[in-house]
Amino acid sequence: MSESSPAQTIRPRDRSRTYDIVLLGATGFTGRYVALELARRYLGSDLRWALAGRNLKKLERVRAELAEIDPSYAAIDLVIADSKDRVSLDALAASTSVVCTTVGPYAKYGSDLVAACVAVGTDYCDLTGEVHWARDMIDAHQEAAEASGARIVNFCGFDSIPSDLGTFMVQEAAKERHGKTCNEVRYYMWRVSGGFSGGTVDSMVNTIESIKERPELRKVLANPFALAPEGDRTGPRQPNRMSPHYSEEARGWLGPFVMAPVNTRVVHRSNALLGHEYGRDFVYSEVMRTGTGARGAMMAAGITVGLGALLASLGADAIRPLVQKYILPKPGEGPTPEAVEAGFFEARIFGDVDGEVVEGKVRGERDPGYGATATMLSEAAVCLALDGEDLQSPAGILTPASAMGHTLIARLRDAGMTFEVS
Ligand SMILES: NC(=O)c1ccc[n+]([C@@H]2O[C@H](COP(=O)([O-])OP(=O)(O)OC[C@H]3O[C@@H](n4cnc5c(N)ncnc54)[C@H](OP(=O)(O)O)[C@@H]3O)[C@@H](O)[C@H]2O)c1
Repeated sequence: MSESSPAQTIRPRDRSRTYDIVLLGATGFTGRYVALELARRYLGSDLRWALAGRNLKKLERVRAELAEIDPSYAAIDLVIADSKDRVSLDALAASTSVVCTTVGPYAKYGSDLVAACVAVGTDYCDLTGEVHWARDMIDAHQEAAEASGARIVNFCGFDSIPSDLGTFMVQEAAKERHGKTCNEVRYYMWRVSGGFSGGTVDSMVNTIESIKERPELRKVLANPFALAPEGDRTGPRQPNRMSPHYSEEARGWLGPFVMAPVNTRVVHRSNALLGHEYGRDFVYSEVMRTGTGARGAMMAAGITVGLGALLASLGADAIRPLVQKYILPKPGEGPTPEAVEAGFFEARIFGDVDGEVVEGKVRGERDPGYGATATMLSEAAVCLALDGEDLQSPAGILTPASAMGHTLIARLRDAGMTFEVS
């Protein structure tokens, strides 16, 4: 099977392995939220899951927290696995139907785990936002994953589920109403309130360091089709919306959205893996709406300057250690529990078809990067583990939309997220 013409493998739920899901990284800032989410949502279900990490004492602390939700969780299995110990990763991959991992930066810690899952046909989902690493994984494992039956699904957090599944939803609505998909989709991060964790900062720094070590990555990352299958990495010119401007459609000011360079690549990979369902002339853009009036204009300018300054300071060898030490959170740290609860995001998605606009909305409660992300990643893992009969997805290195499409949207709605088309 080739990457551009995936076979329609339909696999029933596999109960032959010890676990349905193993969560690796459960002791980290985001992993703990994912563990709590699984514990609350699947209490009393027959989901067989375990917590994994490299430090038993830390795992025991997370398990004790789960036992406060329900005493039955005091018996949940703890599995020791270290990203630097391939034998432990092979054993982990062979023990479960799905590995769900929050161990990042993925370029630093994730490659052997993907290889271990591919080798034994284990499904996998993660939170990476590291385009260069995802491209390395595609180049290294696409064929082997197709052959072993592993569905490796990257980008299952705030980057890039709202963009990827939001666009998929709008395109499906366009097909239903007009018999064809939209040739252009514009994604606006309409409202958002959230923070950063040390793991996210570490991943940004790691990407910058990787580019310094491998300058050829600059060209790869600049290509909107960088994650498309080999031989399919060109396409129509894409909009570059990096400077502040006013939009009648958004009824407000717009600035650059920090995750656009990641999400745009993921949406274009979905289009390619879905057999170019959105069209070969498909155009996609993402921006941040900053509000109306003088305040909105100032915010748009502030985001443009602030984003540039953050990237410049993380890229400067002399300044980066100081910014990391005194300003940004360290690995294991992140927003306070109160801030995570108070966070939210809302994205609006506009697609053009037959001179009309199809408008979609995706909304999640709690901090998008940690609270809502815990919902998105845990439901992706459960979807891979339990919805085998509903997923007509091929094996390979996939995106959320190409792997789980409608089925994951239904699960996320059920978990409290909004996915709607007006
Ligand atoms: N896509 C999104 O929207 C999104 C949102 C949130 C986070 N993220 C990404 O998720 C990742 C984690 O972020 P975070 O803030 O949760 O980071 P974190 O708090 O630093 O957690 C990292 C986790 O990795 C584990 N780990 C580190 N080295 C390991 C090794 N050699 N073997 C096994 N486990 C190891 C740590 O274990 P110990 O506890 O033993 O140190 C910890 O559990 C980052 O890459 C971040 O960019 C993405």
